[in-house]
Amino acid sequence: MEEVISEGDDVLLYLSGDKRWLVKVKVDKKVHTHAGYIEGSNIIGKRYGEAVKSNLGRNFWLLKPTVEDYVLKCERKTQVVYPKDMGLIAAKTGLTSGSIVVEAGTGSGALTMFLANIVKPTGHVYSMELKEEFLDVARRNLKRSGLLDYVTLSLGDASQGFGVIDADVAVIDVGDPWRLVESAWRALKGAGKIVSISPTMNQVEKTYEALLRTGFVDVECVEVLVRSMQVKSGATRPSTRMIGHTAYLTFARKVFGDEKTLKEGDTESIGVVSDEEG
Ligand SMILES: C[S@@+](CC[C@H](N)C(=O)[O-])C[C@H]1O[C@@H](n2cnc3c(N)ncnc32)[C@H](O)[C@@H]1O
Repeated sequence: MEEVISEGDDVLLYLSGDKRWLVKVKVDKKVHTHAGYIEGSNIIGKRYGEAVKSNLGRNFWLLKPTVEDYVLKCERKTQVVYPKDMGLIAAKTGLTSGSIVVEAGTGSGALTMFLANIVKPTGHVYSMELKEEFLDVARRNLKRSGLLDYVTLSLGDASQGFGVIDADVAVIDVGDPWRLVESAWRALKGAGKIVSISPTMNQVEKTYEALLRTGFVDVECVEVLVRSMQVKSGATRPSTRMIGHTAYLTFARKVFGDEKTLKEGDTESIGVVSDEEG
């Protein structure tokens, strides 16, 4: 069924390229842009997908915001995880509606929004953050995107524990992830997946060692590079600019091994899958 835009709905006003505004529609409010202003009353009653004209006669498309739009337009007080990395995190951790997730640190809540949008309506994200000021930012971002109901935010040091058991997935995005590996192991159910997000290789190596020591196998580390295409009839080619390095993603699965079986276990290099293995 077509959705008609009402007072209080979120709309992505799309002009062209990266000229786009994520707004909450209010009947008595104008949205000001460099291409003129748009009256809220002219948006209400239209369907998503229709256009509205600014006072300067420019066409703006009325689009329904996706979780990526909320992530890209969110208030940021910390480094945030990029959509290109979020996609692989979802695929490799097997996140699904109903999953229970523990997360540290919350930061601005960009990744939290993405996780909550997948696990809803029956799953839940328990997200822990050291600094109250960042929790406030994350709370605002989650509220704006309508996802706060699926998240419990708490203030604390996740290296001391998440206060959750039987989680399906643990997501770690802190500067010293190796210190949180034990807490994540305690929070996860058997075979539960962990992902650690780190910008530097020395963080990856320390985390890898902690994972093997603690009781994780199937450790894999990857970096995601995305190249946008400039599409033009007869002249399509890769864009000149691209996002370079953001983070390395390290994945593993929890097992119940004793010290001996763990030592005998996963000793191969991480992130290396030969072609023959298929
Ligand atoms: C890079 S930010 C996380 C960004 C977040 N993933 C996002 O997409 O918005 C790292 C956050 O981890 C928090 N942090 C660091 N150590 C922590 C710990 N031991 N427990 C909980 N949070 C921690 C920091 O305060 C910081 O806000």
